[in-house]
Amino acid sequence: MFTTTDFIPNQYISTVEKGNFEWSAPSNIALVKYWGKKDNQIPANPSVSFTLKNCKTITKLGFTKKSASAEVSGQLSVANEFSFDLLFEGKPKEDFKPKIQKFLERIEIYLPFLKDYHFTIDTQNTFPHSSGIASSASGMAALAMNFMSLERLLNPKMTDDYFYQKASFLARLGSGSACRSVKGNVVVWGNQANIEESSDLYGVEFPYVIHDNFKNYQDTILLVDKGEKQVSSTVGHDLMHNHPYAERRFAQAHENLDQLIAIFESGNLDEFIKVVESEALTLHAMMMTSMPYFILMKPNTLQIINAIWKFRNETHIPVCFTLDAGANVHVLYPESVSQKVLQFIQDELVVFCQNRQYICDQIGDGAIAL
Ligand code: DP6
Repeated sequence: MFTTTDFIPNQYISTVEKGNFEWSAPSNIALVKYWGKKDNQIPANPSVSFTLKNCKTITKLGFTKKSASAEVSGQLSVANEFSFDLLFEGKPKEDFKPKIQKFLERIEIYLPFLKDYHFTIDTQNTFPHSSGIASSASGMAALAMNFMSLERLLNPKMTDDYFYQKASFLARLGSGSACRSVKGNVVVWGNQANIEESSDLYGVEFPYVIHDNFKNYQDTILLVDKGEKQVSSTVGHDLMHNHPYAERRFAQAHENLDQLIAIFESGNLDEFIKVVESEALTLHAMMMTSMPYFILMKPNTLQIINAIWKFRNETHIPVCFTLDAGANVHVLYPESVSQKVLQFIQDELVVFCQNRQYICDQIGDGAIAL
Protein backbone atom coordinates (compact mmCIF):
# COMPACT_ATOMS: atom_id res chain seq x y z
CA MET A 1 0.00 0.00 0.00
CA PHE A 2 1.34 3.46 -0.89
CA THR A 3 1.37 6.48 1.40
CA THR A 4 1.37 10.16 0.45
CA THR A 5 5.14 10.44 0.79
CA ASP A 6 5.63 7.58 -1.69
CA PHE A 7 4.14 9.90 -4.29
CA ILE A 8 6.71 12.65 -3.75
CA PRO A 9 9.46 11.73 -6.20
CA ASN A 10 13.19 11.98 -5.58
CA GLN A 11 15.41 12.88 -8.47
CA TYR A 12 14.44 11.90 -11.97
CA ILE A 13 16.99 9.86 -13.89
CA SER A 14 16.00 10.86 -17.43
CA THR A 15 15.24 14.08 -19.25
CA VAL A 16 12.77 14.73 -22.03
CA GLU A 17 12.34 17.84 -24.18
CA LYS A 18 8.99 17.45 -25.88
CA GLY A 19 6.35 15.00 -26.92
CA ASN A 20 2.70 14.13 -26.48
CA PHE A 21 0.40 11.51 -25.04
CA GLU A 22 -3.26 10.72 -25.39
CA TRP A 23 -5.49 8.92 -22.92
CA SER A 24 -9.17 8.21 -22.61
CA ALA A 25 -10.78 7.84 -19.20
CA PRO A 26 -14.39 6.89 -18.54
CA SER A 27 -16.97 8.28 -16.17
CA ASN A 28 -18.14 6.11 -13.27
CA ILE A 29 -21.35 5.65 -11.33
CA ALA A 30 -21.17 5.20 -7.55
CA LEU A 31 -23.22 2.47 -5.87
CA VAL A 32 -22.16 3.51 -2.37
CA LYS A 33 -21.85 7.28 -2.54
CA TYR A 34 -19.03 9.62 -1.62
CA TRP A 35 -20.71 12.62 0.01
CA GLY A 36 -18.72 14.56 2.57
CA LYS A 37 -14.98 15.04 2.74
CA LYS A 38 -12.12 16.09 4.98
CA ASP A 39 -9.13 18.26 4.03
CA ASN A 40 -7.08 17.32 0.97
CA GLN A 41 -9.90 15.46 -0.71
CA ILE A 42 -9.99 12.69 1.89
CA PRO A 43 -13.46 11.10 1.77
CA ALA A 44 -15.61 11.03 4.90
CA ASN A 45 -16.67 7.50 3.98
CA PRO A 46 -15.64 4.81 1.48
CA SER A 47 -17.43 4.46 -1.84
CA VAL A 48 -17.65 1.90 -4.61
CA SER A 49 -18.52 2.43 -8.27
CA PHE A 50 -19.02 0.78 -11.61
CA THR A 51 -16.59 2.17 -14.14
CA LEU A 52 -18.46 3.05 -17.33
CA LYS A 53 -17.46 2.30 -20.89
CA ASN A 54 -18.98 4.74 -23.38
CA CYS A 55 -19.13 8.01 -21.44
CA LYS A 56 -15.55 9.15 -21.47
CA THR A 57 -13.13 12.03 -21.87
CA ILE A 58 -10.31 11.86 -24.41
CA THR A 59 -7.39 14.13 -23.61
CA LYS A 60 -4.24 14.78 -25.54
CA LEU A 61 -1.33 16.33 -23.68
CA GLY A 62 1.43 18.06 -25.63
CA PHE A 63 4.50 19.14 -23.69
CA THR A 64 7.58 21.21 -24.52
CA LYS A 65 10.36 21.99 -22.11
CA LYS A 66 10.64 25.70 -21.44
CA SER A 67 13.99 26.83 -22.75
CA ALA A 68 16.80 27.65 -20.37
CA SER A 69 17.31 30.83 -22.40
CA ALA A 70 13.97 32.16 -21.19
CA GLU A 71 15.40 32.20 -17.69
CA VAL A 72 18.60 33.89 -18.84
CA SER A 73 16.71 36.62 -20.64
CA GLY A 74 15.07 37.62 -17.39
CA GLN A 75 11.71 35.86 -17.80
CA LEU A 76 12.12 34.12 -14.50
CA SER A 77 8.52 34.70 -13.54
CA VAL A 78 7.41 32.71 -16.58
CA ALA A 79 9.69 29.84 -15.64
CA ASN A 80 8.10 29.90 -12.20
CA GLU A 81 4.54 29.67 -13.34
CA PHE A 82 2.37 26.97 -14.78
CA SER A 83 2.07 27.44 -18.48
CA PHE A 84 -0.66 25.71 -20.49
CA ASP A 85 -3.15 26.16 -23.29
CA LEU A 86 -6.52 24.52 -22.96
CA LEU A 87 -8.56 23.35 -25.93
CA PHE A 88 -12.02 21.84 -25.69
CA GLU A 89 -13.09 20.05 -28.87
CA GLY A 90 -10.20 21.76 -30.64
CA LYS A 91 -11.09 25.32 -29.61
CA PRO A 92 -9.54 27.43 -26.84
CA LYS A 93 -11.68 27.30 -23.70
CA GLU A 94 -10.75 29.96 -21.19
CA ASP A 95 -13.45 29.11 -18.63
CA PHE A 96 -11.95 25.64 -17.97
CA LYS A 97 -8.55 27.11 -17.13
CA PRO A 98 -9.04 28.10 -13.46
CA LYS A 99 -10.05 24.53 -12.57
CA ILE A 100 -6.93 23.16 -14.28
CA GLN A 101 -4.75 25.83 -12.67
CA LYS A 102 -6.06 24.79 -9.25
CA PHE A 103 -5.45 21.13 -10.08
CA LEU A 104 -1.85 21.87 -11.08
CA GLU A 105 -1.30 23.77 -7.84
CA ARG A 106 -2.60 20.85 -5.81
CA ILE A 107 -0.47 18.23 -7.55
CA GLU A 108 2.73 20.21 -8.02
CA ILE A 109 4.50 18.74 -5.01
CA TYR A 110 3.89 15.25 -6.42
CA LEU A 111 4.97 16.19 -9.96
CA PRO A 112 7.80 18.70 -9.44
CA PHE A 113 8.47 18.97 -13.19
CA LEU A 114 5.16 20.69 -13.95
CA LYS A 115 6.62 24.20 -14.13
CA ASP A 116 9.45 23.05 -16.42
CA TYR A 117 7.11 22.51 -19.36
CA HIS A 118 4.57 24.31 -21.46
CA PHE A 119 1.52 22.09 -21.93
CA THR A 120 -1.21 21.94 -24.52
CA ILE A 121 -4.24 20.14 -23.12
CA ASP A 122 -6.68 19.16 -25.85
CA THR A 123 -9.80 17.51 -24.50
CA GLN A 124 -13.18 16.24 -25.65
CA ASN A 125 -16.03 14.15 -24.27
CA THR A 126 -17.93 11.34 -25.98
CA PHE A 127 -21.14 12.37 -24.25
CA PRO A 128 -23.05 15.47 -25.29
CA HIS A 129 -21.87 18.75 -23.85
CA SER A 130 -24.22 20.03 -21.13
CA SER A 131 -25.97 16.68 -20.80
CA GLY A 132 -25.83 17.13 -17.06
CA ILE A 133 -23.29 14.31 -16.94
CA ALA A 134 -20.35 15.47 -14.87
CA SER A 135 -17.16 15.41 -16.89
CA SER A 136 -14.93 16.14 -13.90
CA ALA A 137 -14.39 12.46 -13.04
CA SER A 138 -13.42 11.37 -16.56
CA GLY A 139 -11.65 14.67 -17.31
CA MET A 140 -9.42 14.71 -14.24
CA ALA A 141 -8.65 11.00 -14.65
CA ALA A 142 -7.63 11.43 -18.31
CA LEU A 143 -5.37 14.37 -17.44
CA ALA A 144 -3.78 12.51 -14.53
CA MET A 145 -2.99 9.54 -16.81
CA ASN A 146 -1.22 11.86 -19.24
CA PHE A 147 0.87 13.47 -16.53
CA MET A 148 1.84 10.03 -15.24
CA SER A 149 2.94 9.02 -18.74
CA LEU A 150 5.27 12.00 -18.73
CA GLU A 151 6.55 11.15 -15.26
CA ARG A 152 7.22 7.60 -16.43
CA LEU A 153 9.49 8.99 -19.16
CA LEU A 154 11.45 10.82 -16.47
CA ASN A 155 11.52 7.72 -14.28
CA PRO A 156 11.48 4.68 -16.59
CA LYS A 157 11.87 2.28 -13.68
CA MET A 158 8.41 3.08 -12.38
CA THR A 159 6.26 -0.01 -11.75
CA ASP A 160 2.80 -0.39 -13.26
CA ASP A 161 1.30 -0.52 -9.81
CA TYR A 162 2.83 2.80 -8.85
CA PHE A 163 1.83 4.30 -12.21
CA TYR A 164 -1.88 3.51 -11.82
CA GLN A 165 -2.17 4.16 -8.10
CA LYS A 166 -0.42 7.50 -8.35
CA ALA A 167 -2.61 8.41 -11.35
CA SER A 168 -5.67 7.69 -9.21
CA PHE A 169 -4.12 9.63 -6.30
CA LEU A 170 -3.58 12.67 -8.55
CA ALA A 171 -7.04 12.39 -10.11
CA ARG A 172 -8.54 12.42 -6.62
CA LEU A 173 -6.92 15.77 -5.96
CA GLY A 174 -8.70 17.10 -9.07
CA SER A 175 -12.08 15.63 -8.18
CA GLY A 176 -12.72 12.94 -5.60
CA SER A 177 -14.80 10.63 -7.76
CA ALA A 178 -12.18 10.86 -10.55
CA CYS A 179 -9.91 8.50 -8.63
CA ARG A 180 -12.42 5.73 -9.35
CA SER A 181 -12.16 6.27 -13.14
CA VAL A 182 -8.60 5.03 -13.65
CA LYS A 183 -9.41 1.33 -13.36
CA GLY A 184 -12.39 -0.96 -14.04
CA ASN A 185 -14.78 -2.63 -13.50
CA VAL A 186 -15.70 -2.16 -9.88
CA VAL A 187 -13.57 0.30 -7.92
CA VAL A 188 -13.39 1.01 -4.19
CA TRP A 189 -12.11 4.29 -2.79
CA GLY A 190 -11.71 4.83 0.93
CA ASN A 191 -10.56 2.77 3.86
CA GLN A 192 -12.77 -0.19 4.58
CA ALA A 193 -11.57 -2.70 7.17
CA ASN A 194 -12.86 -5.71 5.23
CA ILE A 195 -11.33 -4.70 1.90
CA GLU A 196 -7.62 -5.34 1.72
CA GLU A 197 -5.52 -2.58 0.17
CA SER A 198 -8.42 -0.10 0.22
CA SER A 199 -7.23 3.45 0.78
CA ASP A 200 -8.51 6.97 1.32
CA LEU A 201 -5.77 8.15 -1.05
CA TYR A 202 -6.74 6.38 -4.29
CA GLY A 203 -9.15 3.94 -5.85
CA VAL A 204 -8.39 0.21 -6.11
CA GLU A 205 -10.00 -2.52 -8.16
CA PHE A 206 -12.50 -4.45 -6.05
CA PRO A 207 -10.30 -7.38 -5.00
CA TYR A 208 -12.86 -10.15 -4.40
CA VAL A 209 -15.16 -12.41 -6.41
CA ILE A 210 -17.74 -10.74 -8.64
CA HIS A 211 -20.65 -12.93 -9.76
CA ASP A 212 -21.39 -13.29 -13.47
CA ASN A 213 -24.71 -11.50 -12.93
CA PHE A 214 -22.69 -8.29 -12.88
CA LYS A 215 -20.78 -9.01 -16.06
CA ASN A 216 -21.48 -6.27 -18.62
CA TYR A 217 -23.98 -4.73 -16.18
CA GLN A 218 -25.97 -2.08 -18.03
CA ASP A 219 -26.39 1.59 -17.13
CA THR A 220 -28.84 3.58 -19.21
CA ILE A 221 -28.60 7.24 -18.26
CA LEU A 222 -31.89 9.11 -18.59
CA LEU A 223 -31.27 12.80 -19.20
CA VAL A 224 -33.98 14.43 -17.15
CA ASP A 225 -32.47 17.85 -16.78
CA LYS A 226 -29.47 19.08 -18.67
CA GLY A 227 -29.31 22.49 -17.04
CA GLU A 228 -26.59 23.77 -14.77
CA LYS A 229 -26.99 22.45 -11.20
CA GLN A 230 -28.08 25.04 -8.61
CA VAL A 231 -25.74 23.58 -6.01
CA SER A 232 -22.31 22.20 -6.94
CA SER A 233 -20.97 18.93 -5.51
CA THR A 234 -18.23 20.87 -3.77
CA VAL A 235 -20.78 22.94 -1.86
CA GLY A 236 -22.82 19.81 -1.15
CA HIS A 237 -19.82 17.97 0.31
CA ASP A 238 -19.14 20.97 2.52
CA LEU A 239 -22.65 20.91 3.93
CA MET A 240 -21.91 17.50 5.45
CA HIS A 241 -19.81 19.35 8.04
CA ASN A 242 -22.12 19.92 11.04
CA HIS A 243 -24.86 17.99 9.26
CA PRO A 244 -27.22 16.51 11.87
CA TYR A 245 -27.15 13.02 10.33
CA ALA A 246 -23.56 12.96 9.08
CA GLU A 247 -22.03 10.46 11.52
CA ARG A 248 -24.83 7.94 11.10
CA ARG A 249 -24.67 8.34 7.34
CA PHE A 250 -20.90 7.75 7.22
CA ALA A 251 -21.33 4.60 9.34
CA GLN A 252 -24.11 3.43 7.02
CA ALA A 253 -21.85 3.74 3.98
CA HIS A 254 -19.40 1.32 5.64
CA GLU A 255 -22.27 -1.09 6.39
CA ASN A 256 -23.58 -0.92 2.83
CA LEU A 257 -20.13 -1.51 1.38
CA ASP A 258 -19.72 -4.59 3.58
CA GLN A 259 -23.09 -5.83 2.34
CA LEU A 260 -22.01 -5.33 -1.26
CA ILE A 261 -18.94 -7.55 -0.73
CA ALA A 262 -21.29 -10.48 -0.07
CA ILE A 263 -23.74 -9.42 -2.80
CA PHE A 264 -21.03 -9.21 -5.46
CA GLU A 265 -20.04 -12.76 -4.58
CA SER A 266 -23.54 -14.28 -4.42
CA GLY A 267 -25.01 -12.31 -7.32
CA ASN A 268 -28.17 -11.69 -5.25
CA LEU A 269 -29.82 -8.93 -7.28
CA ASP A 270 -32.72 -8.32 -4.87
CA GLU A 271 -30.21 -7.43 -2.17
CA PHE A 272 -28.14 -5.43 -4.65
CA ILE A 273 -31.17 -3.34 -5.56
CA LYS A 274 -31.97 -2.59 -1.91
CA VAL A 275 -28.49 -1.28 -1.18
CA VAL A 276 -28.16 0.71 -4.41
CA GLU A 277 -31.55 2.43 -4.32
CA SER A 278 -31.22 3.18 -0.62
CA GLU A 279 -27.81 4.77 -1.25
CA ALA A 280 -29.24 6.98 -4.01
CA LEU A 281 -32.15 8.16 -1.90
CA THR A 282 -29.94 8.66 1.15
CA LEU A 283 -27.61 10.89 -0.88
CA HIS A 284 -30.55 13.09 -1.80
CA ALA A 285 -31.94 12.91 1.74
CA MET A 286 -28.63 14.36 2.94
CA MET A 287 -29.13 17.27 0.54
CA MET A 288 -32.68 17.83 1.74
CA THR A 289 -31.63 17.79 5.40
CA SER A 290 -28.55 20.01 5.23
CA MET A 291 -28.64 23.69 6.15
CA PRO A 292 -29.19 25.33 3.74
CA TYR A 293 -31.28 22.49 2.28
CA PHE A 294 -31.72 21.87 -1.42
CA ILE A 295 -33.34 19.48 -3.88
CA LEU A 296 -31.65 18.33 -7.08
CA MET A 297 -34.32 15.86 -8.16
CA LYS A 298 -36.97 17.10 -10.57
CA PRO A 299 -40.60 15.97 -10.86
CA ASN A 300 -39.59 13.70 -13.73
CA THR A 301 -36.90 12.07 -11.59
CA LEU A 302 -39.69 10.90 -9.27
CA GLN A 303 -41.90 9.87 -12.17
CA ILE A 304 -39.12 7.63 -13.42
CA ILE A 305 -38.43 6.13 -9.99
CA ASN A 306 -42.11 5.29 -9.54
CA ALA A 307 -42.35 3.80 -13.03
CA ILE A 308 -39.30 1.61 -12.36
CA TRP A 309 -40.81 0.37 -9.09
CA LYS A 310 -44.11 -0.43 -10.79
CA PHE A 311 -42.40 -2.24 -13.67
CA ARG A 312 -40.22 -4.24 -11.29
CA ASN A 313 -43.21 -5.25 -9.15
CA GLU A 314 -45.17 -6.39 -12.15
CA THR A 315 -42.43 -8.17 -14.10
CA HIS A 316 -39.92 -9.21 -11.41
CA ILE A 317 -37.20 -8.02 -13.75
CA PRO A 318 -34.25 -6.87 -11.57
CA VAL A 319 -33.95 -3.32 -12.80
CA CYS A 320 -33.16 -0.48 -10.40
CA PHE A 321 -32.03 3.13 -10.34
CA THR A 322 -29.31 5.22 -8.87
CA LEU A 323 -28.75 8.97 -8.89
CA ASP A 324 -25.72 11.16 -8.67
CA ALA A 325 -25.74 14.79 -7.62
CA GLY A 326 -28.37 15.85 -10.16
CA ALA A 327 -31.76 15.07 -11.63
CA ASN A 328 -30.66 12.43 -14.17
CA VAL A 329 -31.47 8.79 -13.46
CA HIS A 330 -29.07 5.90 -14.01
CA VAL A 331 -31.07 2.75 -14.78
CA LEU A 332 -29.04 -0.33 -13.79
CA TYR A 333 -29.80 -3.90 -14.93
CA PRO A 334 -28.10 -7.15 -15.93
CA GLU A 335 -27.23 -7.74 -19.56
CA SER A 336 -29.57 -10.75 -19.70
CA VAL A 337 -32.68 -8.55 -19.42
CA SER A 338 -31.43 -5.67 -21.53
CA GLN A 339 -33.89 -6.11 -24.41
CA LYS A 340 -36.91 -6.04 -22.11
CA VAL A 341 -35.62 -3.12 -20.10
CA LEU A 342 -34.72 -1.06 -23.18
CA GLN A 343 -38.23 -1.66 -24.50
CA PHE A 344 -39.64 -0.49 -21.16
CA ILE A 345 -37.41 2.59 -21.24
CA GLN A 346 -38.59 3.48 -24.74
CA ASP A 347 -42.25 2.80 -23.98
CA GLU A 348 -42.51 4.39 -20.56
CA LEU A 349 -39.47 6.40 -19.49
CA VAL A 350 -38.24 8.50 -22.42
CA VAL A 351 -41.30 10.74 -22.08
CA PHE A 352 -39.74 11.99 -18.86
CA CYS A 353 -36.38 12.82 -20.50
CA GLN A 354 -35.45 16.20 -21.93
CA ASN A 355 -35.84 15.88 -25.69
CA ARG A 356 -36.37 12.11 -25.08
CA GLN A 357 -32.59 11.79 -24.66
CA TYR A 358 -30.80 8.95 -22.95
CA ILE A 359 -27.35 7.32 -23.15
CA CYS A 360 -26.71 3.58 -23.19
CA ASP A 361 -23.68 2.58 -21.22
CA GLN A 362 -22.33 -0.42 -19.32
CA ILE A 363 -19.52 -1.49 -17.03
CA GLY A 364 -16.08 -0.91 -18.53
CA ASP A 365 -12.38 -1.28 -18.01
CA GLY A 366 -10.95 2.11 -17.06
CA ALA A 367 -8.44 4.44 -18.67
CA ILE A 368 -6.79 3.51 -21.97
CA ALA A 369 -3.66 4.89 -23.65
CA LEU A 370 -4.45 5.82 -27.26
C1 DP6 B 1 -22.77 12.38 -5.70
O1 DP6 B 1 -16.26 13.84 -6.99
O2 DP6 B 1 -17.82 15.53 -8.01
O3 DP6 B 1 -21.37 11.81 -7.52
O4 DP6 B 1 -14.41 15.83 -4.95
O5 DP6 B 1 -15.69 17.96 -4.86
O6 DP6 B 1 -14.92 17.06 -7.08
P1 DP6 B 1 -15.38 16.74 -5.66
O7 DP6 B 1 -16.78 15.99 -5.77
P2 DP6 B 1 -17.29 14.90 -6.79
O8 DP6 B 1 -18.50 14.27 -5.94
C2 DP6 B 1 -19.23 13.19 -6.44
C3 DP6 B 1 -20.42 12.97 -5.62
C4 DP6 B 1 -21.40 11.93 -6.12
C5 DP6 B 1 -21.15 10.57 -5.47
C6 DP6 B 1 -20.00 9.75 -5.97
O9 DP6 B 1 -19.63 9.83 -7.15
O10 DP6 B 1 -19.50 8.95 -5.15
